[in-house]
Amino acid sequence: MNAKLTMVAASLALALSSAAQAGEVEVLHWWTAGGEAKAAQGLKASLQAKGHTWKDFAVAGGGGDSAMTVLKSRVVSGNAPAAAQIKGPSIQEWAREGLLQPMDAVAKAEGWDAKLPKVVSDVMKFNGQYVAAPVNVHRVNWLWANAAVLKKAGVKAPTTWDEFFVAAEALKKAGVIPLAHGGQNWQDFTVFESVALGVGGPEFYKKALVQLDAATLNSATMDKVLETFRKVKAYTDKNSPGRDWNLATAMVIKGEAGMQLMGDWAKGEFLAAGKAPGKDFVCAAAPGTAKSFTFNVDSFALFKLKNSANQAAQRDFASAVMSPEFQELFNLNKGSIPVRTDLKMDKFDDCAKQSNADFLATAKGGSLVPSIAHGMAVPSAVEGGIKDVVSQFWNNDSMTVAQAKQRIAAAAKGS
Ligand code: GAL
Repeated sequence: MNAKLTMVAASLALALSSAAQAGEVEVLHWWTAGGEAKAAQGLKASLQAKGHTWKDFAVAGGGGDSAMTVLKSRVVSGNAPAAAQIKGPSIQEWAREGLLQPMDAVAKAEGWDAKLPKVVSDVMKFNGQYVAAPVNVHRVNWLWANAAVLKKAGVKAPTTWDEFFVAAEALKKAGVIPLAHGGQNWQDFTVFESVALGVGGPEFYKKALVQLDAATLNSATMDKVLETFRKVKAYTDKNSPGRDWNLATAMVIKGEAGMQLMGDWAKGEFLAAGKAPGKDFVCAAAPGTAKSFTFNVDSFALFKLKNSANQAAQRDFASAVMSPEFQELFNLNKGSIPVRTDLKMDKFDDCAKQSNADFLATAKGGSLVPSIAHGMAVPSAVEGGIKDVVSQFWNNDSMTVAQAKQRIAAAAKGS
């Protein structure tokens, strides 16, 4: 065989072998907003580059409540996707049902343990084996603001809750909605947990909302948190109930509102709209929380599959999720930071660099705390119960602080 023919034969053999391996990866996620969709596109492209077929199973709805409902019905009917965006303690809940596929061969070959913070890898494992692959670290305790609107109102991004209310008054006088807010219970809780962290500090936050300590939940600090939270609501607009988070972000982008309290997936929206951090918009830690970090790690749990080509594609998916190329590209678009600790942050903006530095510093100092709003801290049933009370308090001005406090404590006990 001449050299040219040998080359053709070799590439044919390669094409055939990868075709034999080619499988389908069905991926459930809820990344449908501008920045999110752009980020998800990168994952799809890297799987397709390996010859696999990407079957998109996107269920719209920020925070993922609808996605989880749809996932449950699919799994019950014996038709689980290869991967699903499942986070935090819920990973254990699914794994306990015997539904998740250990990925240890991939994780060991690629040295995941050494590349991930322990606080993350522990959550991805069940019985010591990886059953989920982490994508990123989102910081939840952020405040986003339109730079020109702040300037017009003559204020800076507030660093304390007292400053927040001064800024909110000034924005109101300037004729804009001070705080853009979307009315869904995970969004209410996103604000609530930032208020709890800022008013009570990280020790209070951990005791009350992570350990669900009854005395702390019934403390005077809890009164202060609830009072501050109610005061914040006065600076939102009447149309917020039911509004999606990205529409609230759009109000800030367009200058209809001054600020939003939201995790850094909001940055993905500013970037997708062509806005520059530090110039068009400001990122600042939520008032009073600069020295703390509320984390929200997105991850894909991997379901047991029967078809061997799809199993191979699933392994390639897990490997792609953890690859340096994907982690960089995805997080540049998503607003989050890579979950791998061995990557350079050169290409990231100042908000992400700040997030990365604060993530590492707070992990050492003990003020790195899990987000309850985003499923990082407590079992899903308790989380749902507490969220409901907080949203009822937010939406119903006749519920007193004492009633809310008592009902949150009851929900924390699972009653
Ligand atoms: C969070 C999720 C983020 C983002 C956000 C809004 O729970 O972790 O990745 O998608 O919801 O949908």
